[in-house]
Amino acid sequence: MVTNQYQTAQIKELDALHHLHPFTDHKSLRTGGARVIVRGEGPYIFDSEGHRILDGMAGLWTTNVGYGRKALAEAAYKQMLDLPYYNTFFRTTHPPVVALARKLAEIAPANLNQVFFGSSGSESNDTAIRLIRHYWVLKGEPQRRIIISRKNAYHGSTIAAGSMGGMAHVHAHSYPVYEGFRHIMDPYWYGEAKDGETPEAFGLRAARALEEEILAVGPENVAAFAGEPVQGAGGVKIAPETYWPEVQRIIDKYGILLLADEVITGFGRLGTWFASQHYGLKPHLMTFAKAVTSGYLPLSGVIVHDEIADTLMAHDDDFHHGYTFSGHPVACAVALKNLEIMEEERLVPRVKEFGAPSLAKMLAKFKDHPLVGEVRSIGLLGAIELVADKRTRRRFDNLGRVGLICRDHFFREGFIMRAVFDTMVMAPPLIWTKDQFDEAEAVIRRVLDLTLSDVAGEVAA
Ligand SMILES: Cc1ncc(COP(=O)(O)O)c(C=O)c1O
Repeated sequence: MVTNQYQTAQIKELDALHHLHPFTDHKSLRTGGARVIVRGEGPYIFDSEGHRILDGMAGLWTTNVGYGRKALAEAAYKQMLDLPYYNTFFRTTHPPVVALARKLAEIAPANLNQVFFGSSGSESNDTAIRLIRHYWVLKGEPQRRIIISRKNAYHGSTIAAGSMGGMAHVHAHSYPVYEGFRHIMDPYWYGEAKDGETPEAFGLRAARALEEEILAVGPENVAAFAGEPVQGAGGVKIAPETYWPEVQRIIDKYGILLLADEVITGFGRLGTWFASQHYGLKPHLMTFAKAVTSGYLPLSGVIVHDEIADTLMAHDDDFHHGYTFSGHPVACAVALKNLEIMEEERLVPRVKEFGAPSLAKMLAKFKDHPLVGEVRSIGLLGAIELVADKRTRRRFDNLGRVGLICRDHFFREGFIMRAVFDTMVMAPPLIWTKDQFDEAEAVIRRVLDLTLSDVAGEVAA
């Protein structure tokens, strides 16, 4: 294992020479160097200099059962000996993919019974986009091509998933953005509400933006609405309670498909297997990735409604789509073991009973801090918005600068929270106990004060 300074320096040097990181400012990475993470154990990761770091982001919204699970390594080892790889093209299948598909159908919302597998969230959303458009062609309505999603949505960074997402900085790097996507406002009350507008009224307004867009482009041209039940990478934006029921009503009224992107919210994050169950949504397609294996191996997929599966099966032509690693046997075996652990340890109901109230209670303690505009959480997703003036909700100049100052303090203090511009977000693994919540609370208090002292001159008294 890498533990001493010399090896760390060498790794950083080689990293700078040969490794292009995702979503990274490559110039600044090469001046500062990357952090070297060498080990994980339960809720902690360890860097090459021996520091123990509490991982408030579950990796990247991923390691729901925590690090260092021997049972997952053993499941992979055993499957590698039995059958390390075989494809699922050309009428072949294998036991782990069948068992996992069966299990996912069991825990998914009603009528979602068939699974198409991939290896990343982006791939699963690309698959969903192709399935949606293929479905409407098979139904004899090929003009239904438009998929409506939301500003600041994140659905991945392949060109199709990036185009469906609503992040301007992602679009800026993938021109031409694919046509056929429209982006409506996101249900972000703290940032978008008008003066005096209640969350309930705002939620209805944001949902009705969907109906306005459907009417603007012509209902006969709309294929689907895509949304993350809670916007994660966009800043843990939690829709007001009125939002999703109204969206569902509009979807039903116009007969379009609902794609629920559960890449972050799947596998217990809100205290239900999927957030669609929490919100009572009736998705036609549900994409998943990340925590299906708790990140121990890459695996993703789309679970589709019987209506879509039946339509595919009513036509005797190929759906020309698939990946070499669709239903990779080792990844499927690890996913099955991961879901088994979640069930044995009751990790999903435990989010409602313990994790969610603990997180909400902890975050509430910071709402009076001079830097904090809003704290919010749902299940084990939380956010702290940093603002220059909490009375007027005025942001800091050069959005994102203060978030990075804060994030770097967190890292130095041995805790990981991610900065989405100036919003600090967290998604702890489902295994946190009171000890971890206490530890997080103490670090957050220290770090908010450290950040405040760095930017004190910019903060309204
Ligand atoms: C909601 C959502 N969808 C899709 C993706 C893309 O997943 P991946 O990075 O595995 O391609 C992400 C990644 O964070 C995500 O948060």
